[in-house]
Amino acid sequence: MRILIIGSGGREHAIAWKLAQSNERHELLAAPGNAGISGLAECVPIAANACASLVTLARERNVDLVIIGPEAPLSLGLTDALEAVGIPVFGPSRRAAQLESSKVFCKEFCTRYGIPTASYSICDSPESARAAARSRNHHCVLKADGLAAGKGVFVCHNRSDVDAAVQAMLIDRTFGHASDRVIVEDCLIGEEASILAMVDGSTSILLESSQDHKAVGEGDQGPNTGGMGAYSPAPVITPRLKHHIIQSIIEPTVIGMRAEGHPFKGILYAGLMIVQGEPWVLEFNVRFGDPETQPILMRLQSDLTPFVNACACGRLHETPPPVWTDEPAVCVVLAAQGYPGTYPKGMEITGIDIAEAVHPVTVFHAGTERTNDNRLVSTGGRIVGVTAHGKTLSIACSHVYAAIDQIRYSHRMFRRDIGYRALNRQGV
Ligand code: AMP
Ligand code: GLY
Repeated sequence: MRILIIGSGGREHAIAWKLAQSNERHELLAAPGNAGISGLAECVPIAANACASLVTLARERNVDLVIIGPEAPLSLGLTDALEAVGIPVFGPSRRAAQLESSKVFCKEFCTRYGIPTASYSICDSPESARAAARSRNHHCVLKADGLAAGKGVFVCHNRSDVDAAVQAMLIDRTFGHASDRVIVEDCLIGEEASILAMVDGSTSILLESSQDHKAVGEGDQGPNTGGMGAYSPAPVITPRLKHHIIQSIIEPTVIGMRAEGHPFKGILYAGLMIVQGEPWVLEFNVRFGDPETQPILMRLQSDLTPFVNACACGRLHETPPPVWTDEPAVCVVLAAQGYPGTYPKGMEITGIDIAEAVHPVTVFHAGTERTNDNRLVSTGGRIVGVTAHGKTLSIACSHVYAAIDQIRYSHRMFRRDIGYRALNRQGV
C-alpha cells in the first residue's frame, strides 16, 4: 500500500516506525514529516493544515490511505476533502472532530448521552465566568471552547487564579476566537489516565491505557505543554475499570455520534479522571496522543496496518484483536528551555545514533530537520522522545534516562520524573 502520514511530530514518527515494520512493505509518504521520519518515508514539504495541497498530493501520488496525526487538519475538514475524491482516511470528519475542536460541543454531547463529565456552565463574558466560578467557591477549571494547543485550560483554586484565567481568555483574548466561549466546570480530584480506542464508525477496539505528563516541570508543576513524557499502561486502569469505560464512555460516544449523523472514525481518545474508582471524561481528543502514541505503539505486537485500514473502510468488526506485550513502555521528551513559551531553535543535536546503539531505546524525532550540510538541528519546542520498554516500568525508565545522557544540544530540558505516579503506586 501507499500510505500518506500527515504531521511532523513524535507521534507521526512512531506511526511511520510501526508501519515500516509491516510484512506488507508499504510505500510511506509524509507531509511534512521530520528528519527522523525521512529515514522511513518520503517527506514532502507541505504543511499539515494545507488541506487543498494535501488532497492534490494524495491524488497525484495515488495514495491508498491517509493517516492524519494532528487535530488542526481534522478540524479543518481534511478527512472530508480526501473522502470527497475517494481516498480512504484514518481520521474523523470535521463534524465528528468537534468532540475535540469544541469543548462546548463535547460537554453538551456528554450530557445528551449520559456520559460522566464534571458539571459545567458555558460562559461568554467575564461576569458570567466569574459568577460560575464563585458558585464553585473558585475551585473550578476554566477551558477555552476552541483549540488552544493544550494551553487553554486553567485549573483554579482561588479567586486570583480565576481572575487570571478570565483575564487571559475573555479580556486579553490570548486564544483569539477559541475563547469566545469558555467552560467553567467543577474541579475533579482523582488520578488521570488516557484510554484510546480505534473506531470505524460503529465498532471500537481499545488500545492499551497510557498516561502523559502535561506540566512542564517535575512533580507536575508549571504550565501545561503538549506532553513532556508518557507511559503505558496506566496502572490505575484495572481490567474491571476498562470494561466500565467501554460501557459508560466509549460505546455511548460511538452510538451517539452515529445517531447524530456524524459517525466517528479514527482514534477516539478519552482523557479521564478516575475518582474513587469511577471514570469521568475530562476531554476527548480525536487522534492519537503525542507522546502517548510512542509507548503505546512500542507495546503493540500486531501489525498496525490492518487496524487503520479497517477503521478507514468500516470493517473493524472483521479484524482479530490486537496483541500487546505486557512489558511497560515509557517515552521521555527532550525539549528546548523556555518551552511551552518562547524557546531557541536551530540547535545542533548529536548522539542519537550512539544512544540507540548502546541502549535498548528508540528515539522518535519531534522537532528536527537536516540542514543542507547534513547536520541535525532542532525546529520545535519538543525535539525528540526517547522511548523504551522493559520488564518493569522502572527498568524501562532506566534505559531511557541512560540513553538521554548521550543526546546533546544546547538549552536541553527534560523531566527526570516521568512515570513517577505509576512507580510510586506499584513500587516497581
Ligand atoms: P483537558 O485539556 O481538558 O484534558 O485539560 C488539561 C488538564 O487539566 C487535564 O489533563 C487535567 O490535569 C486538568 N483538568 C481538566 N479538567 C479538569 C477537571 N474538571 N478537574 C480537574 N482537573 C482538570
Ligand atoms: N499528550 C496530549 C495530547 O496529545 O493531546
